[in-house]
Amino acid sequence: MAAAGSAVGLGNIWKFPYITGEYGGGAFVLVYLITVALVGFSVMLAEMLIGYLGRKDGVTSFETLAPTRKGLWKFGGFQGMAGLLIMTFYSVVIGWILNYIVTASISLPSSVHEAEVTFTTMLHSDFFTQFFYHTIAFVIVTYVLHKGIKSGIEKVNLILMPALIIILSVMFVYATTLDGFSKALTFMFAPDWSKLNSEAFVTAVGHAFFTLSLGMGAIMTYAASMEKGTNIVKSAFWVVFLDTAIAIVAGLMLFTFLYQYGSGPDKGPGLVFISLPAAFYEMGVLGNIFAVFFFIALAFAGLTSAVSLVEPMVQYFIDRFGWSRLKASISMGGFFWLVGIVVILSGLDGTKEYLTWGGKNFFDWIDYITAAIMLPFGGLIMAVFVGYILPKTEVQATMQPFLGWAFAPWYFSLRYIIPVAMFVVMLNLMGVF
Ligand code: TRP
Repeated sequence: MAAAGSAVGLGNIWKFPYITGEYGGGAFVLVYLITVALVGFSVMLAEMLIGYLGRKDGVTSFETLAPTRKGLWKFGGFQGMAGLLIMTFYSVVIGWILNYIVTASISLPSSVHEAEVTFTTMLHSDFFTQFFYHTIAFVIVTYVLHKGIKSGIEKVNLILMPALIIILSVMFVYATTLDGFSKALTFMFAPDWSKLNSEAFVTAVGHAFFTLSLGMGAIMTYAASMEKGTNIVKSAFWVVFLDTAIAIVAGLMLFTFLYQYGSGPDKGPGLVFISLPAAFYEMGVLGNIFAVFFFIALAFAGLTSAVSLVEPMVQYFIDRFGWSRLKASISMGGFFWLVGIVVILSGLDGTKEYLTWGGKNFFDWIDYITAAIMLPFGGLIMAVFVGYILPKTEVQATMQPFLGWAFAPWYFSLRYIIPVAMFVVMLNLMGVF
């Protein structure tokens, strides 16, 4: 449940639709789906296995499990830094959602165009609102981290995750009745390969890691508290399935509304904030109620993911430096809160000019470096660690009972398919093709 809470987050409902819109639809979606199936699922099993066998924070798990060169392998655990970096913008986006909970209860924009103006005004010229809600997100996340994952967030999640799924399903069914739906289907599933440039490819692969929370030790840290004998394969399968289904449903729904109300899919990071309010407006008062519930559920989906982004580093400072949970939570929280302010500034008129390089602002760069580079690299480390470093007998003893005949193909993919796939990604990043 905790792993599902981590995986299902803003990545599914905020990020996936907007990058799909930005990189042209079908071909991008296909690369993402193939990566999830061929790479994501295998890496998830590897990451879970390391946590399950290591039973500690990522750094310590790598260190104890590595038969030799412990000092080198422990760096595998420092991938946790990626989570903290992601959190710098994740917190800002949760802030936007909190702001929308408040505004949607009062009034909704009467058209896609108006929704777009509302969003871009906040992004480009409203520092205070963004700062205020980013700070609230920081306070909530830090508080939950300090309390420990088990005690509260899991219970809240147990209610809000189904709530999110129900609201999404209702909205989705409504979307299927609209004319825009067939356009949305075509956009998402008819691949136009000419749109798949090298950046789109790398982004799609990176997103598979991002949305499944792979490659930085979040899943590993959670797996460390899995009871012995838990069926790792079943857990991993459900996380991957649920996460992918939610992303696809959210994407189809959001694009339907955009097409329906006379607009297009290329809306950037504001997509969910533009598409949905406009659709909710059409529903009258019921729309306001739906909107508020939707953004509340989305905020919680984001919060459970946020906690998992920071928890690995918190755990690290507790395990290795003997820090109290309070001190570790506040220090990590302080970091993403401060850097998050720069993320906000990088979208504002007047400051963004100083925080933009090569067509990407600070926000985009952090997103790109973490998701497209750090997470796939972390996944590679985990695949190699399980495929080559851990004794095969030990891996087999744990995984064979759950995987059966599928053990051999899984092991093969860790040893060969994933390293080759990640090598292709690296070449691509370096601009070789
Ligand atoms: N998977 C989450 C989402 O889709 C984000 C996330 C949470 C994450 N924990 C992570 C991404 C760890 C990478 C690594 O919103």
